[in-house]
Amino acid sequence: HTASPNAGATRGGFSSGLGVLAATLGSAVGLGNIWKFPTLTGANGGAGFLLVYLLSTLLIGLPLMVAEIAIGRQARANPISALRQLRPHGAPWWLIGMAGMAAAFLILSFYSEVVAWVFAYVAKALTGGLLSSDPAQTQASFDALVTDPVQSLVWQWVVLAFIGGILLLGVTRGIEAATKKLMPLLFLLLLLLCGYSLTLPGRAQALAFLFAPEWHKITPAVVLTAMGLAFFKLSIGMGTMMTYGSYFTASQNIPATATRVMLADLSVSLLAGMAIFPAVFSFGFTPSAGPALVFITIPAVFAQIPGGQVLLAVFFILTAIAATGAMLSLMEVPVVILHERWGLTRPRATLLTLLVLVLLGAGCALSQSTLAQFRPGGRTLFDWADHLSSNLLLPAGGIAIALFVGWAWGERAFAAQLSNHGELGNRALARLLCLLLRWVTPALILLVMLAGLGVFSG
Ligand code: PHE
Repeated sequence: HTASPNAGATRGGFSSGLGVLAATLGSAVGLGNIWKFPTLTGANGGAGFLLVYLLSTLLIGLPLMVAEIAIGRQARANPISALRQLRPHGAPWWLIGMAGMAAAFLILSFYSEVVAWVFAYVAKALTGGLLSSDPAQTQASFDALVTDPVQSLVWQWVVLAFIGGILLLGVTRGIEAATKKLMPLLFLLLLLLCGYSLTLPGRAQALAFLFAPEWHKITPAVVLTAMGLAFFKLSIGMGTMMTYGSYFTASQNIPATATRVMLADLSVSLLAGMAIFPAVFSFGFTPSAGPALVFITIPAVFAQIPGGQVLLAVFFILTAIAATGAMLSLMEVPVVILHERWGLTRPRATLLTLLVLVLLGAGCALSQSTLAQFRPGGRTLFDWADHLSSNLLLPAGGIAIALFVGWAWGERAFAAQLSNHGELGNRALARLLCLLLRWVTPALILLVMLAGLGVFSG
């Protein structure tokens, strides 16, 4: 296939600095902030884990994010075409774009199902059918949802249709316009919930839980978990940031934007933790991991708070908002690849992506009902999608992108994308980032991968 000749001429993009920031932050913020971050931080030693997570964000996350955005903006094309264009000869770097598309489909197939539960919970919270102070009861209603094949599928289709609908409006009027409205709303709701939660008696215990270091809990495995989180959080390693970089305005300062997004994303995570845990501790619950915390503990906790009905609706609405920006960026990767490389119109590319996701996603949606017994290699399809994307495709993509910039693309071209503010300062920055991307970033990611595949645990 060749890129359609006039794809460049008709390309959309983000129209303003604010739009760039909203969309990019929208991609980073997601389910990762609201259930992954608080539970992982709590389970792995609080402030100590936070420190390791911050270090990984700085050493792996930030350089890779800058690298991806720079590649995208230089090429102004989808990830596959971009890598071909910047390095037409030699190693087939464009395979990174293919792997990215595969990762997008895999992540979306399980992510969309979790968001399906969130949407279902928004509906339930608004109609009052969710609150019970008895965790056994909230557990039962969660089980009733996930083991019902019809509800699991239909809510997933609702989610996919919603995201697809926004994407049909295009990059500027869809992604940018939606995230520009949603991101401020997200912060507003989060601050509201957080402010309320911090008035509860469990506040001190919650803050200690989140911020008091328990150094003995920092094992190599924990360090690797923190690095994996940094990866997933910033949407790197699969061409998402490359794709968004291709929509960046020419005057946007890439390192400054990446840093702002990283800091804002971190704030969302911390605020989410401070909204969730005081409430959890105030009513004698212990923080538990993943789906249990968000879908089982939270409803039981909120049932005991005055106005819990409203707060619960607010909580799931803000989770849905956070997940929307992330899903838009995930889905944009296959859409723009199908559009620019296969020559499909954008609407057709979107519909084809949706069709593939309805089929692939069904495997994840049904993995606790119809397909509950189908566990090749001991994992459900849902768990496989999660495992393969996070532990294999994203880290491998990250290594490849780091090596591409560090060794193949070169410091000179990279520096040119960073030089909006004083040639000399950015030469030094490009040199530093290149050095990291050549050696440090790939080596660290390799550790994450090997641990993820269990090499160190035998
Ligand atoms: N960053 C998103 C989150 O935290 C997930 C994501 C991963 C989005 C990869 C895009 C690409 O939920």
